[in-house]
Amino acid sequence: MLDIKVTKTTTPKEKPQGPLGFGKIFTDHMFMMNYTEGMGWHDPRVVPFQDISLSPACVVFHYGQEMFEGMKAYRGENGETYLFRPFKNAARANQSNKRLCIPELPEDIFVEGVKAVVEVDKDWIPTEPGTSLYIRPFIIATDAFLGVAPSKTYLYMVILSPSGAYYSEGLAPVGIWIEDDYVRAVKGGIGFTKTGGNYVASLAAQVKAHDGGFSQVLWLDGVERRYIEEVGAMNIFFKIDGKVVTPMLNGSILPGVTRDSVLTLLKSWGIPCEERRISVDELLEAQKNGKLEEVFGTGTAAVISPVGKLRYKDEIMTIGDGGIGPVSQKLYDTITGIQTGKLADPFDWRVEV
Ligand code: COI
Repeated sequence: MLDIKVTKTTTPKEKPQGPLGFGKIFTDHMFMMNYTEGMGWHDPRVVPFQDISLSPACVVFHYGQEMFEGMKAYRGENGETYLFRPFKNAARANQSNKRLCIPELPEDIFVEGVKAVVEVDKDWIPTEPGTSLYIRPFIIATDAFLGVAPSKTYLYMVILSPSGAYYSEGLAPVGIWIEDDYVRAVKGGIGFTKTGGNYVASLAAQVKAHDGGFSQVLWLDGVERRYIEEVGAMNIFFKIDGKVVTPMLNGSILPGVTRDSVLTLLKSWGIPCEERRISVDELLEAQKNGKLEEVFGTGTAAVISPVGKLRYKDEIMTIGDGGIGPVSQKLYDTITGIQTGKLADPFDWRVEV
């Protein structure tokens, strides 16, 4: 058990009323812990949410040595506070850390930091359907040094944001732009890590997609620009002729926690599913033959996000009748039901704080 020092705010903020949006409002507290070479991780603490002071020379500002995670806390029907598969995020954080030369953060420390600040700010967990307390753990490199080298000091922090749906569309189907010019990641790169560099690489295409009236970008592989990878903020699934398929984890896409949960649920329901390479031509062909039945994205922020429309070059594919498909709806209801304690938890995914 960590010895976490808790300093509570003397000026608590008003809790938000009305629509929350995503990631716009922050709670009263945050978790912090330092790493110093030779000392390891030290000084775990919960402090009032505040600006932090860093040298302008910090490695994170110049070379982007940082990683982040995305999780959520939910309020149960009897006032419980639940996390969803937090050790899966902790393990993924260390996959990112390893690739980014950030020191490993023991999984129990990662989760204890999250639990500590969620416990202090649990009254901030919203309860309206479709809302939750979004949790953003992250580590930044804090050495003040302009040479390109791994930092010797780091800061692990956890901030919390009461949030609604990630997309302004809510559960209504989103339009996705299949990007055929820019690429996000290549094998051997950092595509599988959760780090800012992957997201800044996506911005130019995202602006293009928005200008074209689409919500998000679907990336193709970085070499042939032919095989489906992932969407800006989620993994992607297709139901083609009764079978659900998703790109296999190939080193350049994010190993999503919701992606893994969806595969587990589909298998348990006896719905055929496969992780494999999927080409954009296969999608066009399936669409032409009326076999592209459903498309949905998965992610912590996005949960299950039905896709109603896909654009590729001059083609616009409308998926099904453009509405929410039955598999997408069942997955959404089941996952959110498990997360909030309304449904049984056959895979032991829920962790009470
Ligand atoms: C998440 O789903 O938690 C993410 O981190 C995706 C996005 C908001 C960047």
